[in-house]
Amino acid sequence: MTRPVLLDCDPGIDDMLAILTAVASPEVELVGVTTVGGNVGIDTTTRNALDVLAMAGRADIPVARGADRPYLRSLSARAESVHGDNGLGGVTLPTSSAGPVDATALELIVETVRTATEPVTLVATGPLTNVAHLFAVHPNVASRLARLVVMGGSIGAGNRTPAAEFNIWADPEAAYRVLTEPGLPRPVPTTLVGLDVTYRTAYSPDDLDRLRSAGTVAALCANALGYYLSAYGRDHGMDVVPLHDPLAMAEAIRPGLVTVARAFVEVDTTTGPSRGNTLVDLYGRPTVEVGVDVDVPSTLDFITTQLESLAAVGLVEGELASRGRDWVSR
Ligand code: BDR
Ligand code: CA
Repeated sequence: MTRPVLLDCDPGIDDMLAILTAVASPEVELVGVTTVGGNVGIDTTTRNALDVLAMAGRADIPVARGADRPYLRSLSARAESVHGDNGLGGVTLPTSSAGPVDATALELIVETVRTATEPVTLVATGPLTNVAHLFAVHPNVASRLARLVVMGGSIGAGNRTPAAEFNIWADPEAAYRVLTEPGLPRPVPTTLVGLDVTYRTAYSPDDLDRLRSAGTVAALCANALGYYLSAYGRDHGMDVVPLHDPLAMAEAIRPGLVTVARAFVEVDTTTGPSRGNTLVDLYGRPTVEVGVDVDVPSTLDFITTQLESLAAVGLVEGELASRGRDWVSR
C-alpha cells in the first residue's frame, strides 16, 4: 500500500528534485504540495511547484500557496544567488495551465491530514513557517501526522552563516516552535536531516553528465544542478553538489537511509551571530531525531533511479538546450 506524503517546499533546485523523487516513487503517494517563500518569493516557488508537477505529468496534485514571510523578522536576503532568479537555475519549464488551489497551505495540510485514510508523512524542505503555523493553530491535527521529516539545520557549521543552515536561518522562530518546543498533545516523530548528512549525499560533475543522458526530466535536473554546483563551488569551495531536499524526501520514502540519534535541539532565536543555529544536545531530553550518518550509495542510487524513470510531459529532447544551459565548468 502506498503511504501518503505531503511536501512543504520552496522550489528551489533541490526542492524540484524532492518533488520529482516523490512523484516517481511507487512506495508513496504525493497527496499535496504546499509552498513557502524561501529560496525565492512565494509567487515564484508556487509557480515552480506547479510547473514541475505538470512536467512530470502530475498537474492533478494540489498545490497551495503558503507564507511568503517569516513569522517575526523579515528576510535580509533570499537565495537567488544559489538557485537563480527563477529559482531553478535558469532552467525554464513549460508553464502549467494549473493554478494553486483556492485554499491556503495551512488549509490544504489540515484538510489532507483530516481526510486521509492513513496517517500522512509531512516533508518540509523550506523555512518552517507553514509547519509552525500548523503546530500553533491546529495542534490536534499536527499530532495525527505519521512523521515529520525536515531538511534543515546542522550539528556542525551552517551554510547561510557560520552558525546557521539556510532553512532554519530564514525563520528561526518557526523552527523553534517545530523543533524545540512543539507543544503538541501527542508528539510527532520528527527527523531533522541536516547538512551533516546532506553534504555527504552529493553528485559529482560526472554524475551530472550521466544524468544528462538519461531522459528529459533527468537532463533538466542536471542542467539546474549544474547552476547549483557552480554556486556551491563559488560560495563553499565544493566540487560536488549536495542533494539536501531529495535526501529528506528519500528518507521519508525509505526510512533508515539516514541513521539518526535522538536529541534535544535548541534553535537560536537571538539576533546575534548565532541566530538560526541548531544546538544539538545528544544527551538532553530528546525532542527530535537528528541525522548523523547516511547510506550514501543507496541514497544516490535511489534518487537517480527515480529521476531517470520520469519522462517530461510536453518536452522533447531537442528542446533541452533552450531550457537551461550547461552551467558546469570543468
Ligand atoms: C536548503 O536551503 C535551500 O537553499 C535549499 O533548497 C535547501 O532546502 C539547504 O540549506
Ligand atoms: Ca528548499
